[in-house]
Amino acid sequence: MADVRLIALTRTGFEPECAQELEHELAARGGSGYAQTRRDCGFVVLHVHDAPQRKLRVGELIFVRQLLPVRVSFDALDTKDRVGPILAEAKASGVMLSDVWVETADSPDGEQLRGFARSFESAMATALKREKRFDARSTHRLHLFAHSGTHIDVSIATHAETAPWKGGIPRLRFPSEAPSRSTLKLEEAFLVLLDNEERERWLQAGMTAIDLGACPGGWTYQFTRRSIRTIAVDNGAMAESLMATGIVDHLRADGFRYQPNKAVEWMVCDMVEQPIKVAERMATWLREGWCRRTIFNLKLPMKKRWPEVQRCFAAMRADVPFELDLRAKQLYHDREEITVFATRA
Ligand SMILES: C[S@@+](CC[C@H](N)C(=O)[O-])C[C@H]1O[C@@H](n2cnc3c(N)ncnc32)[C@H](O)[C@@H]1O
Repeated sequence: MADVRLIALTRTGFEPECAQELEHELAARGGSGYAQTRRDCGFVVLHVHDAPQRKLRVGELIFVRQLLPVRVSFDALDTKDRVGPILAEAKASGVMLSDVWVETADSPDGEQLRGFARSFESAMATALKREKRFDARSTHRLHLFAHSGTHIDVSIATHAETAPWKGGIPRLRFPSEAPSRSTLKLEEAFLVLLDNEERERWLQAGMTAIDLGACPGGWTYQFTRRSIRTIAVDNGAMAESLMATGIVDHLRADGFRYQPNKAVEWMVCDMVEQPIKVAERMATWLREGWCRRTIFNLKLPMKKRWPEVQRCFAAMRADVPFELDLRAKQLYHDREEITVFATRA
């Protein structure tokens, strides 16, 4: 059987971790293949020789923002007619499409292609509409990954198996009332790591959250805007606007020693510390039942990031006597870190 190729989009500079994770997950699911990448190109190509027993899913991968199975690759499109060959491929598939996205890498090269991607997407949409290839009820989307203006990979994938944002990047607007830009990290984490139903059920007015390393309050803001009472633990200064809500208690204490006197729904943690120290503390909170669920950052070292993530997760699993539901992503609004959601499975 011919190799299947997948394009995995990632943060520029994280290609090695993305490649390691893909190869690891492919082998863990009984498949075989190899990952190929270039430094700072913002994507990895996974060549699959033997299909895994369970498909790789973007939602289960940490360093992958978008995952596209390549159906066909056009590497020398004629600039006079780029639409024609892709349209023919879409028609030949026999699949009705919900829409079309042209995606690029989040890299300097990808940035140069943004204008082309926008105009090509609208040209493709016009052609697909004319040929009656769109059906609003379809669960399939046409994804075109542009390596350049003449090199385009074509994918047809279901909404369920791909990220619901172009390039896997949710474009969030910074709320002007929030005291720091890190607020976008927690907002993105809620969007990426929880599904709609979990967000509704687990983020309800009247709940209580604890924010370790809270100052100046960007993460606390995500709770107060949902009328969730928050205990902010940090020796720094909290934004006055948050204290004025009347639902924030600011405790000047060490976040690694602090223990709540009753169990809470949420504990979040953005303290800058060694990842293993943070991971172990988070496991303690879950094991002791001090919180139902947690979202926290692991600030990764420059090198050996993938082994470090595995070490932290293994330590957490070893620390609790129950199964853990661990979900993690290197978010668009993260820097040299990943954001993790954990709860008892
Ligand atoms: C990256 S900032 C947090 C930003 C915050 N999440 C926001 O959105 O505004 C890290 C914070 O952790 C606090 N911190 C670091 N170590 C701590 C500790 N051991 N106990 C409590 N706070 C700590 C620092 O004072 C700092 O305010």
